Amino acid sequence: MPTRSISCSRSLKPKSTIFVLISACSITCLALWLFLDYGSSTGPSSFTTKPICPDSDIPELVGQRKPNLNETTTAHAEEHIFGPSAGKVRTAVKRANEILLKKLVDPKTGNINHVDWLFDQVLDPEAMHISNYWYLPGGHWKPMNCLPKWKVAILIPFRDRFVHLPIFLQNLIPMLQKQLLEFSFFVVEQANQELFNRAMLMNVGFLESLNFTDYDCFIIHDVDHVPIDDHNYYGCSRMPRHFISGDDYRNYKLPYADSFGGVTGFTKANIRSINGFPNVYWGWGCEDDEILLRVKDARLKITRDKGPIGYYNVIMHHHEGAPKGKDRRALLGTFKRRIGMDGLSNIVYPTPVYDLHTLYTNVSVDIKKIKPHY
Ligand SMILES: *[C@@H]1O[C@H](CO)[C@@H](O)[C@H](O)[C@H]1NC(C)=O
Ligand SMILES: *[C@@H]1O[C@H](CO)[C@@H](O)[C@H](O)[C@H]1NC(C)=O
Ligand SMILES: *[C@@H]1O[C@H](CO)[C@@H](O)[C@H](O)[C@H]1NC(C)=O
Repeated sequence: MPTRSISCSRSLKPKSTIFVLISACSITCLALWLFLDYGSSTGPSSFTTKPICPDSDIPELVGQRKPNLNETTTAHAEEHIFGPSAGKVRTAVKRANEILLKKLVDPKTGNINHVDWLFDQVLDPEAMHISNYWYLPGGHWKPMNCLPKWKVAILIPFRDRFVHLPIFLQNLIPMLQKQLLEFSFFVVEQANQELFNRAMLMNVGFLESLNFTDYDCFIIHDVDHVPIDDHNYYGCSRMPRHFISGDDYRNYKLPYADSFGGVTGFTKANIRSINGFPNVYWGWGCEDDEILLRVKDARLKITRDKGPIGYYNVIMHHHEGAPKGKDRRALLGTFKRRIGMDGLSNIVYPTPVYDLHTLYTNVSVDIKKIKPHY
């Protein structure tokens, strides 16, 4: 077992108090004491003093590696990530979907309880302790031995790419663990046969992930892109950010200089300052160009690494090209008129279906066209 972090509250607890408690109290008191002690010594709770996790010069980070893009099953990906704990984790996730999902939604208010609370209160800590990380069903990870610089929500707009998902997760999770980030995966799935609306799913993912905890960093990730250099840091230090400087599919070149697709990152404030993402792009294409226009309009500066740090491998597609949006270029011309009223400010959608998986949280949503007010 990795060493547990030193707990302040434990050392502050005078021995005499414990003696009085134990001798004077009934079983209930003892249970309460055990509970408090559990909370302070084993949970990743805020009582503990820990160093801040570094965001650079982490010895575990290696440069370029060859990702394993071979087709795999979810079970294999789980074994790769959880090792001998895979069985325990699957059982916990099953239980979590029966019990935790009920706890997740507060029956009184209907609000979702934050995962921070759940990290501390709900789960068997032994089951959820995976190498140097705390793990919570639904693919939420938190470093044990240091305070993460960023709480990162990885939002994956999704439909039908079931072959790509385990390959993607099996490569991403070890990299983010080495980077000592707190992170969660949200697969935001469009649950209908309308044209795919990537940007609206990004809005849904942003809003819904904030129900789980107070993420401060959002990375919107295509499921077929795998970073190949550990130094491609997924924290939010220099946002907004385009993480890709090239991929193997395009000979490690960008499709065009102003490209802003594939993998992008924003702070919460960034996203709010551009009114989120447009809801009107049904079908592939141009929504990323509009997002770039919004970013520029808000006078935000985009960062991107040059060269190998930003290289990605693309998982090959085994299906036909997805249909493009017909009116996408015309829409781009109207962005200035829409920016204030098309995005977070006007989005409506039915309550999504949540499903906790071992490696991710599935947010499945039947998005519909929104009547324009402009
Ligand atoms: C991926 O598949 C290739 C070809 O089948 C094989 O040679 C290679 O060892 C596999 N890679 C891994 C990491 O399993
Ligand atoms: C989740 O967040 C959305 C957007 O803020 C909100 O409309 C919804 O009510 C929240 N859901 C729950 C169950 O808290
Ligand atoms: C997400 O949930 C929906 C609804 O339950 C389901 O149809 C879909 O297959 C799930 N997708 C993933 C990626 O787990």
